[in-house]
Amino acid sequence: MKICVGYASTEGQTRKICRFVADHLVDVGHSVELLDVDAAEGLDLARFDRVILAGSLHLKRFQSSLDGFVRANAAVLAALPSLFLAVSLAAAGDDAEDWRGLRECVAQFCADVRWQPARVEHVAGAFRFTEYDFFKSLAMRYVARQRGQVVDPHADREYTDWAALAAALDDWLGGVCVKA
Ligand SMILES: Cc1cc2nc3c(=O)[nH]c(=O)nc-3n(C[C@H](O)[C@H](O)[C@H](O)COP(=O)(O)O)c2cc1C
Repeated sequence: MKICVGYASTEGQTRKICRFVADHLVDVGHSVELLDVDAAEGLDLARFDRVILAGSLHLKRFQSSLDGFVRANAAVLAALPSLFLAVSLAAAGDDAEDWRGLRECVAQFCADVRWQPARVEHVAGAFRFTEYDFFKSLAMRYVARQRGQVVDPHADREYTDWAALAAALDDWLGGVCVKA
């Protein structure tokens, strides 16, 4: 199958996640176009069989570039089997209130842009201290403390579960594997 993997990433973890997704899809025999939705001008989404879109939460909102991409491609997206990868730090934990909030953020985003992805996967992201400016670093150290996590403010800390992500992809593909 021809699969489009489009992402929006502020500090780079969603980009890394989508590179993994693209590699995994290619490994099982699919043809993939990986792109930052910010640079998707002129893309003809209709030539794909499926689409995966990914974005990350910042202050409970997904990137405006993702918002713009979905709105600009609404008609084609409505006709394509789709998967939304929602990246966040809350997904790294098991706090019921956090998870309720995550589902609300996704529901709000999908309602705003009028997109109903066939499937949503919540993917744990990362603290990217090497990418933060002074104020973001302070804020994220506070977030880490609130979550009871000890972090090194000079190093990144990744929570993405790569094996679980690969399994979710395989499930979404429903066994459509081109290579043996
Ligand atoms: C300023 C800021 C705000 C964030 N807000 C949220 C949030 O509201 N909920 C959440 O679960 N994670 C939040 N995060 C965590 C990000 O979703 C996480 O770091 C993710 O890996 C970022 O992906 P990216 O590197 O692709 O931008 C926030 C991170 C930053 C830096």
